[in-house]
Amino acid sequence: MQPAGETPRPAMIPIRGVPMIKYFAENWGEVEGFQAQPDDLLISTYPKSGTTWISEIIDMIYNDGDTEKCKRDAIYMRVPFLEFAVPGIPTGVELLRRGHAQRRLVKTHLPVQLLPESFWEQDCQMIYVARNPKDVAVSYYYFYQMAKVHPEPGPWQHFLADFMAGAVSFGSWYQHVRGWWEKRREQRLLYLFYEDMKEDPRREIRKVLAFLGRPPAEGLVEAVARHTAFAAMEQNRMANYSTLPRSVMDHSVSPFMRKGVTGDWKNQFTVAQNERFDADYERQMEGTDLSFRMEI
Ligand code: A3P
Repeated sequence: MQPAGETPRPAMIPIRGVPMIKYFAENWGEVEGFQAQPDDLLISTYPKSGTTWISEIIDMIYNDGDTEKCKRDAIYMRVPFLEFAVPGIPTGVELLRRGHAQRRLVKTHLPVQLLPESFWEQDCQMIYVARNPKDVAVSYYYFYQMAKVHPEPGPWQHFLADFMAGAVSFGSWYQHVRGWWEKRREQRLLYLFYEDMKEDPRREIRKVLAFLGRPPAEGLVEAVARHTAFAAMEQNRMANYSTLPRSVMDHSVSPFMRKGVTGDWKNQFTVAQNERFDADYERQMEGTDLSFRMEI
């Protein structure tokens, strides 16, 4: 790995037209051939949509609300990131192979068309979390700055234009949320919204329990809600990514646990940017019954 401060920011490489972090793209063969197991649970999201939050919730459920067990390791070890690859760090596929004897939690940001075939063949359960695109764009902009595997985001207005055009890592938000929304009709897939989780986390935790076929024990719901509240996760070194080398994520630029709210986009978008975004949103989301709350 490069010493701190010297990590180059490589240009992205497309995989079947989807822009991908260079190191991830170079490891694509391993990802494509990944063998899912029937009891794997897939956690799928577009980046910055609440992946870490839902991952911690599910790990808590899998460990019956035992907070100490959930502090056994960093979140990226407990819930390996399928397509992750950075020189000098074990890849997501390597970590998943090591855990093959257990019931695995698998994180992915892949758009539906790039998910390895074996997940469909094995009929794995899947939980997708979607977040409104304005907050995602803002969160992604700050994340690009602190996570050095991304290209430089440039000024906000350029990044926003790239986001709207799908010219960011993992491609178009619009196609991502729509693609997974359609899949829920034919797949064992629970589709959740970040805004609903903010509004009533206990209600959404109960939905996850029902989907996983577990009883909604109130003690468990309470323990999960407390352990996964933003203030708790922000302080939890096993959840807040502070254990990664600074050359990979530099929290002094912007913390991974940044604000954790809905509607922060209002502090970033100009009125003109918001109007352009809304008009483009109408066009890109035409014909779907999927809808988002930009504020709660
Ligand atoms: P912000 O940058 O808007 O604060 P992901 O895990 O998909 O990368 O998403 C990261 C975003 O989720 C960040 O958003 C982060 O602060 C927020 N987040 C993480 N844990 C959260 C929690 N427990 N409650 C609310 N938001 C959370």
